[in-house]
Amino acid sequence: MSFDASRSSYDRYMGRYSNQLAHVFADFAVVPADAKVLDVGCGPGALTEVLATRTSGVAAADPSESFVVACGERVPDADVRLAPAAQLPWNDDSFDLVVSQLVLNFLPDADAGLREMSRVARPGATIAACTWDYRGRMQMLRTFWDAALTLDPDAPGEQSTMPFCSQDELVATWQAHGLRDITSADLEVSTTYDDFEEYWLPFTLGVGPGGAYATSLDAETLEQLKNACFTQLGSPTASFDLTAVAVAVRGRQP
Ligand SMILES: C[S@@+](CC[C@H](N)C(=O)[O-])C[C@H]1O[C@@H](n2cnc3c(N)ncnc32)[C@H](O)[C@@H]1O
Repeated sequence: MSFDASRSSYDRYMGRYSNQLAHVFADFAVVPADAKVLDVGCGPGALTEVLATRTSGVAAADPSESFVVACGERVPDADVRLAPAAQLPWNDDSFDLVVSQLVLNFLPDADAGLREMSRVARPGATIAACTWDYRGRMQMLRTFWDAALTLDPDAPGEQSTMPFCSQDELVATWQAHGLRDITSADLEVSTTYDDFEEYWLPFTLGVGPGGAYATSLDAETLEQLKNACFTQLGSPTASFDLTAVAVAVRGRQP
């Protein structure tokens, strides 16, 4: 439910990062001319939109209805379908490239998702994914969860619940799925916040695990968390930059 959100709420929270990451990740994944490409967990279409500037055969899937509608509106020529990664509604061997940006950690069964991504990828196709380094180098989320943990040691900080936070974990998973010619990398993006309110407000919109946690708190605890985030950020009184590092992997189907 934390992804049952509008594109504008998502963009204020995560899209400001994922819109940039999409360009860097598409470069890393390498989109061949005229390739048939599938974007798994497309959200409101940050990566789908970039893929559509590089090839004409773009498809996308997400289990969130609001995101599927938003992605379809954003990229009208793409074949956007409502589906989870583990049940992709395409035939075997349909794609030259299957990509997934910031999704693997949300899959209830990542192995089942990867098997399905392999099924729809033709022999020799590339499968590529990236996820945030939730444990350290995604400053927007790291700040939020560090602040939450100062108030509540049992807060569900994403570093403890999110797998796939390192290149090593991704490479080991790609190896376990029999992919070949595996390459991994760090992908860094950054964004400028005009002020602290611009950082804080998106958490109150309920998007993603951070938003779900913030909106579950009573008003007093939420205010304490807001103050703790302000302190964690060094009490900014002007604009400030935050960086985010995603770890990425790609490999070829046998
Ligand atoms: C952080 S968002 C990333 C969205 C988009 N790829 C981007 O980069 O902006 C995570 C996405 O994973 C999707 N998701 C959650 N569970 C999923 C599943 N089982 N299969 C596929 N996607 C899933 C969510 O709906 C959401 O769109």
